[in-house]
Amino acid sequence: MSNLFLLLLHVYTVSKIHGQYEGSGNTWSSYNEVVPERTRYSPQLDYRNPRWCHTLSLSNGEVTCFSPRGGNYRSTLGTRCQLSCDHGYRLLGRTSVQCMPNRRWSGTARCREIRCHVLPLIDHGAYSCTEGVAVDSRCDYTCEKGYEIEGDRTRTCLDGGDWSGTEPTCTDNDPPTIKCPPSRVRLAGPGKRTAKVSWEPPVVKDTTDATLTDVTLTGQEPGSDFKEGVHVIRYKVYDQARNKAACKFIVRVEVRRCPVLKAPLHGYLTCSSDRNNYGAECEYHCEGGYERRGTQIRVCQLNRSWTMVAPVCVTMEINTDVRTAAALLDQFYERRRLLILSTPDNSNHYYKLQNMILQRAGCGLDLRHVTVIELLGSPPREVGRIKERHLNSEVIEGLRQALRISRSYFSMVLLDKHGVDRERFVYPTTSEELYSLIDTDLLEEDERERLEKNKDFCD
Ligand SMILES: *[C@@H]1O[C@H](CO)[C@@H](O)[C@H](O)[C@H]1NC(C)=O
Repeated sequence: MSNLFLLLLHVYTVSKIHGQYEGSGNTWSSYNEVVPERTRYSPQLDYRNPRWCHTLSLSNGEVTCFSPRGGNYRSTLGTRCQLSCDHGYRLLGRTSVQCMPNRRWSGTARCREIRCHVLPLIDHGAYSCTEGVAVDSRCDYTCEKGYEIEGDRTRTCLDGGDWSGTEPTCTDNDPPTIKCPPSRVRLAGPGKRTAKVSWEPPVVKDTTDATLTDVTLTGQEPGSDFKEGVHVIRYKVYDQARNKAACKFIVRVEVRRCPVLKAPLHGYLTCSSDRNNYGAECEYHCEGGYERRGTQIRVCQLNRSWTMVAPVCVTMEINTDVRTAAALLDQFYERRRLLILSTPDNSNHYYKLQNMILQRAGCGLDLRHVTVIELLGSPPREVGRIKERHLNSEVIEGLRQALRISRSYFSMVLLDKHGVDRERFVYPTTSEELYSLIDTDLLEEDERERLEKNKDFCD
């Protein structure tokens, strides 16, 4: 400020001396302080010299001068010039200078181009600018394929040398794609209830990730044994930006089945595998006292039908035309139980009652594999019979002796399947008592199970 002060002082002084300066409403005219005269300049000051100072020029800028003498006197002594720079340039130095008595301008200035900093590169993206880092240059950002721009798409270099907006980012919002193999149905093999099922892994793609490794399977592994039914296999995949894709398909395992076979009357079945699946074999068995007529084994075929036709269980043929008790009993060995009933005569009250009970219990006794033998009366009119088939008198005598059965009173003997007498009765007994005795003491475990299944058979 001291230089300017000196300059102002000087001009004021000069104008007073020459009486030519009128003032123009600016600071100059209001300056009326009395100061001592201290001029160091030569007295040949020429206010009319249009070239008192050199012509001011400012590259990339503008000089606006005001001379009290008019437009042609831009470099006259005392001329004041405002300096400004073009758009995009910054002024360094004085914004205002004046032509001084020493024929110099009171200061200098220059215009320097304003530049923004070089924008940093961004991940998975690029930008291009219209005029580099110059003011007004516009930079447009783009992202690589599969990435989306987030933030400011363009940035402009502003007057102040800063970029507009903020740096954008390129994010992967594009989910990967995953394609599962087609759903499939597999038949379980013969005698199996499972099937081995394989498939190719799903096809995964992503626009940005070359290889996707984060593929997870929910469900059974390919190549393993699948149970009968429907299995949903799900796959999902994440790309590096945690975008997810998923797919699923169905593995259905079918077990071909034949109709469930029914046990034959007086017989039962033992089946392999799952009883009626493809390849299962069922073997027919007849209960004691019955014989199988027909095939022993049937196999379930792929077309859901069984091989052969069902056999039947027919009553065991008992040969009553034998000469000894042993020959008769042998035929029942391990096959039937015997209930031998003896009465002195047909009119015996116990016998009559017992006979009535046994008639009604026929089916229940048959279920328990019991054959009834009757020994009636005394020789010479003694009768022995199994249902309506008569026994020889030698056989009757043999049975009485072997089992010590008296002719003089009513009695019953229960023999097990080995011919051992297990129970004797001298009074009539109800069918319930008989059944419960047999069921608890005489039946084998498997017989008891079968009896349980056929419980209602006789109703
Ligand atoms: C099932 O297949 C067998 C031979 O594979 C054939 O003999 C039988 O007739 C077929 N049964 C039916 C019901 O198609």
